[in-house]
Amino acid sequence: MIQWDESLTTGVKEIDKQHKEIISRINKLISMTDTEKELEIDKMLRFLGGYVIDHFNHEEEYMIKYQYPDYDQHKGEHIKFLKNYSSLKKLFDSEGASSLIINATERQAVEWLVKHIQQEDKKMATFLNSKMKKT
Ligand SMILES: [Fe+2]
Repeated sequence: MIQWDESLTTGVKEIDKQHKEIISRINKLISMTDTEKELEIDKMLRFLGGYVIDHFNHEEEYMIKYQYPDYDQHKGEHIKFLKNYSSLKKLFDSEGASSLIINATERQAVEWLVKHIQQEDKKMATFLNSKMKKT
């Protein structure tokens, strides 16, 4: 399970709220039995393709609005996630809920997202927080 702690907190209210929602969904998946995972993986993929993408757009709007200097790099990571996501989705559409796809989705969600929040989002938020205070 992913524990919410200081390393995940960005201090940008809206972004933290969305990250908490994403992490609680990932935790729900992690805590399921294999049979439950098979049933829920479809929903999880939909969530990643819907809510998470909206969340990326939200971050990108902030970065554009406040002219974040590392926008390209950050956006590049979002694109990497989307590419991985669409290959997972394609695999799911052709093979169904195999253990391969369940493991890959879990790994992608946990490793990529947590690392992304702790590194890229934190860095972005430090910048945003300093700009937001001035306006
Ligand atoms: Fe991000």
